[in-house]
Amino acid sequence: MDKKEIVDLLNKDIEGEHAGIIQYLTHAYGMGEGEMSCEIEALAREEMRHLDWLAETVVELGGTPSLTRGNMRMGGQVVSEWMANDVLLEEDAIKLYKEHIKAIDDPKIKRLLKRILSDEESHRGDFQHFVDKAKKEGAKDIRGSHQDETTQVLNWGIEHEYTVILQYMLQSYLTPNAEAKKELEDQAINEMQHLGWLAEEVVDGGGTPLIEHTKVDRSKKMTDMLRSDIKIEKEVAEGYDKAAKKIKDPDLKKLLFRIRDHEIYHNEVFSDLLKEEES
Ligand SMILES: [Fe+2]
Ligand SMILES: [Fe+2]
Ligand SMILES: [Fe+2]
Repeated sequence: MDKKEIVDLLNKDIEGEHAGIIQYLTHAYGMGEGEMSCEIEALAREEMRHLDWLAETVVELGGTPSLTRGNMRMGGQVVSEWMANDVLLEEDAIKLYKEHIKAIDDPKIKRLLKRILSDEESHRGDFQHFVDKAKKEGAKDIRGSHQDETTQVLNWGIEHEYTVILQYMLQSYLTPNAEAKKELEDQAINEMQHLGWLAEEVVDGGGTPLIEHTKVDRSKKMTDMLRSDIKIEKEVAEGYDKAAKKIKDPDLKKLLFRIRDHEIYHNEVFSDLLKEEES
């Protein structure tokens, strides 16, 4: 098997991890705060680590990590049905990893996939346990269909955050510059926090978070990447500022100003990196 073929298989794995992250986060936000949603968010974070390892391997092989989201198993009226879907998604992943472990000869990659497989087997058990727990507790979908200007602004924020998470992660994998890599990773993690805060606010306001993204910049040149990041940060800082000024709820106002200040910080970090890169 040549490098290109291995990259294609690993990209399928990446797409599966991506689907898992979004499916689990959707479920965690949709059941509201509590022990189970915390544990599910922790599982989503493990999938993020998997995605990270796989993407680094793809880049080592000379490939580009896929940003396509694989098939999710959505649907289900109550939390126990969601958890059953999460079991199924883990089974999809287990099947795929087993196939890829068989197909790939490279011992280092084989070892990595085995390591991930053992996590997925453990996750399957966790979700099976959550099926029972959710049934016993009668856990419900607490999301509503409420829609107003605030839900719209929050969902606009979620869409933006999801987009830049993908963009900064992709850039962090592709850049050879160690400092830029670290900064891009840090900002991506910060954007994940934003996404979580906004999604929880949507649910608290009786709405449903829409976890979709828009077009991700795929520049390969560092200066082009940073210019696009700076442009997007400037736009959203203004967007959050405008939204915060309009919103009456004092806590939500404070939250949006806090996110705005983070975006201003991101803009400054990227601007410094661009200056260094240009000199
Ligand atoms: Fe995973
Ligand atoms: Fe953000
Ligand atoms: Fe940002």
